[in-house]
Amino acid sequence: MRRMNSSDPRVPIKATLRYLQDLGVPDLPRPRAVEELAIPMVDPVPVNSPEPISIKVMPQTESLASIQADLVNCQRCQLAAGRTNIVFGVGNPQADLMFIGEGPGRDEDSQGEPFVGRAGQLLTKMIQAMGLKREDVYIANIVKCRPPNNRNPEPDEMATCSPFLLRQIQVIQPKMMVCLGSIAVKSLLQTSMGITRLRGQFHEVAGIQVMPTFHPAYLLRNAEKKKEAWEDLQKVMKELGLGVSPR
Ligand code: URA
Repeated sequence: MRRMNSSDPRVPIKATLRYLQDLGVPDLPRPRAVEELAIPMVDPVPVNSPEPISIKVMPQTESLASIQADLVNCQRCQLAAGRTNIVFGVGNPQADLMFIGEGPGRDEDSQGEPFVGRAGQLLTKMIQAMGLKREDVYIANIVKCRPPNNRNPEPDEMATCSPFLLRQIQVIQPKMMVCLGSIAVKSLLQTSMGITRLRGQFHEVAGIQVMPTFHPAYLLRNAEKKKEAWEDLQKVMKELGLGVSPR
């Protein structure tokens, strides 16, 4: 599942617009479909220039690897002291769909991969119920290091780490993000509203649709809420044009 040619020189315009929007630059045009932003990335050539016209395609320098390289041995917040592995993210770097959790737990910390414990197994089932494989989507967290004793990440830890998630989003440019649980949704949507009020409706971050839903760990404790979570995922599937898989 992918629609975008990553060698397309027009793509960075969209990424740049979104990046500026995230930085809070006012009065930017809203990011639109890449096809609508069909402006070639070339150096401006003055009219009647005596110089031969040379077209220089600007490279897209940011990649998931370069973001990950910026995190090597990260000591930017106090979570560094207790971590075993930095849990960067996993999946298809060109995914249409991203899942965003809160932060690694014990299993994720020891394996260096998000959502591999019990909650992760439920998330994998949810992804499969959508007719997808784990490798089709991209999975990441707001904070990349495990909070001690699985406490919630502190606001300063999320503020320090979330720019790296935003950069991952800029590179992947998914069509849709599913945000898992209250902590992640408050950080991503910059709101104090809880998940119960936010879930079930599409929101927007940097021009990308966001569907908040319950965290799989919460669903393990409150099985009766699985129905609502599934309704949320069905809305996502409809938006992405995915059919329900036979079960
Ligand atoms: N919970 C999360 O929010 N993220 C993980 O990676 C695992 C559990």
